[in-house]
Formats: sequence, structure tokens, C-alpha cells
Amino acid sequence: MIEEILNKNTPNKTDLIQLLQTEDLDMQHLFRKSKEVKEQTVQNKVYFRGLIEFSNICRKDCLYCGIRKSNNKVHRYNIEDEEILKAARFAYENHFGSLVLQSGEQKSPAFTKRITNLLDGIQTLSKGSLRVTLSCGEQERETYKQWYEHGAARYLLRIETSDRNLYAKLHPNDALHDFDQRLQCLYNLKDLGYQTGSGVMIGLPFQTIESLADDLLWMQTMDLDMVGMGPYLEHEETPLYAFRYLLMSQQKRFELSLKMIACLRILMKDINIAATTALQAIDKGGREKALKIGANVIMPNITPGKFRNDYHLYSNKPSTDENLEDCKRCLEIRIYLQDNKIAYDEWGDSKHYHNRMTKTKTIKRVPDREIC
Ligand code: 5AD
Repeated sequence: MIEEILNKNTPNKTDLIQLLQTEDLDMQHLFRKSKEVKEQTVQNKVYFRGLIEFSNICRKDCLYCGIRKSNNKVHRYNIEDEEILKAARFAYENHFGSLVLQSGEQKSPAFTKRITNLLDGIQTLSKGSLRVTLSCGEQERETYKQWYEHGAARYLLRIETSDRNLYAKLHPNDALHDFDQRLQCLYNLKDLGYQTGSGVMIGLPFQTIESLADDLLWMQTMDLDMVGMGPYLEHEETPLYAFRYLLMSQQKRFELSLKMIACLRILMKDINIAATTALQAIDKGGREKALKIGANVIMPNITPGKFRNDYHLYSNKPSTDENLEDCKRCLEIRIYLQDNKIAYDEWGDSKHYHNRMTKTKTIKRVPDREIC
């Protein structure tokens, strides 16, 4: 039965539901298949993205997130530009190839300008050799355009769930937390030429397996280049904590996340998939397990140590007291153990992006030839 599904090139919704429900031997079978697809399409390379969580200031109030605006127990920080550039230099000197600037959602002309300056600074210090990904939330199209023109090549904006009814349960009901607006941002990013990434949380209260299968199909329809997704983890200082009695065990959420990654690798063979930190919060070697069965990107946290404890999206967020060198070395060893090679000094662009750009160009060229 599972064999039959796994032999298909593209699973449909019913297939995905079945795959997400596999256990024991069937689940191992699924993982074997996704590992095989990974090795055939993106090889067993792992790309590093140095992650700089440069500010936890956020104007949003998402009901699941530890750094939501209303959580006044959070110590808010904003790392000085100079220190951000120092961390970027660390990524450059350690051959990471790529880095991610992430923050809570802020939106103002000053913020736009600040990111633009940082992008310029990173281009200068790395002589244009560091690929920069931004993850700074919903912004105006003009802002995205400006950042793109200053060297940001990739953007991550998770949809959190593609089910608009579930989305409404996870967010305040106001214009600042509008599902369609978020979707529009993703369309704008793609249209502007970004390698576009999104993702969802797995094991949320009220979430069903059907809804997760739809998430995977949504990613396919959106033709995403990159995906980061991981287990939902409850945080005491958030409204969603009241619904923790609805949750499956953390171990089950972890397993389900691995199954989502495996299914996605089978469904979207040439995209970049991140092994997210939330996986590591449940299982110490969680990210490495994800790399083994389909993920190909890992984001070592290179935020200056003194700020790490304040970027608490969820409880048990790991790596908060590692220093940068330790963090790199231990990852290296663990990745080595999982038969994956670290691709130093490579951008590790999404193959999918290049494939779809080539396709678009080909399609555009056809009418030209007909006109001639
Ligand atoms: N559990 C898991 N992931 C979370 N995020 C925010 N809060 C939580 C949580 N409680 C994720 C969201 C967001 C990303 C930066 O962190 O998906 O997009």
C-alpha cells in the first residue's frame, strides 16, 4: 500500500494523508524514499546559513509566539549595526557562504533604511560573496524592492498555516494579522525575483492531518523555492497556551514534522528545506535527523551571545549559551555522523529557483521566435 504511493512520482492529497499517518516500518519506508530523492536531486550536501536574530521588537501579537507584542515579560533588544556586521564577518570568515537576518516585525521608513544600510555593509565586508536572506516580516512591495536592489536575494515569510480558518484562530482578528495580506507579500516577493521561502508550524491546536496535507499542496501550488517548518511548541506567556490540552505529545509533533519534511522532499524534489531549530528543542539531534531524511539547510545561530536568551519564540529554545565557535564545531561533527557534507563557501541557492527561472525564460522566448 505505502509502497504503491511511494512509487508514484507525485502524491495527491489522499496519498499525503496516508503518508503523514504512517508509523513504524511504513514510516521508515517513507524516510528511505525521501532520503533517496534528496540524494538524487540535491545530493547529500548541507548548506550553512548563519542566523542573526538582530531584534525581538515586534508589532504583531500572534497568539502562539513568545515575542508577541503583548508579552511584557520579554526584555526587548535591538542589536547595534556594528555588532550585526561583526556577526556577518564571522559568517564570512568561517566560509558559511550565506546568512539570514531575522527580526520581529517592524515597519517604518527608518527600519527600511536601516536594513538597506546593513545590506550595503554586508556586501562591502564580504566583497559581495555572502548571500543574504531576510526574514523581517510583512512589508510594502516598495520596501521589498529596495532591499532586493541592495543585494537581498532570498526572503523567508512563513504562512504558519495555509488554512485561513485555522490562521484566524491563531491570530488576533484585525488588519495587522490578515491572511490575505500575508499571502500578497509572498506573491510580491516572488514577483520581484526573490528566492521565496515560507513554511508552517506542525502540531498546532485545532490543526488536522488534512490541513497539513493541504499545507504541502499549498507549498507546491505557490511554487516555493525554500521551506522552513517545524513543530509548534507551547509558550507559557501566550494565549494559545490555554489550549495545550489539545496537543499531541512533543515526540509525536517531532515525528510528524519529520514526516512533513519527507513528504515535501518527495513532492518538491529540488527545493531547499531547512532543518529548523524547533526540531532541536524536542530532540537534541533533531536537526540532523531532518537532514538525513530530506532537509538540506541548517541555520547555526550566530547572534551575539548576550542577546540569545531574549529571542524566545517558544520554551526550551536551544543553543542559547553556546559560543559561536563551539556551535559550529559541534554541528560539523553531528552532520558528519549523518553522512552529509557541509558545502563551505557555496551560496547553496535553491535549485528550484534556477529551474523555474530557466523555465520562465524559455516560455518567454517562444513567442519571440514565432514573431520572427
Ligand atoms: N512554536 C514553534 N514555532 C514558533 N514560531 C513562533 N512561535 C512559535 C512557537 N510557539 C515560529 C513561527 C515564525 C518563526 C520565526 O518562528 O513559524 O514564523
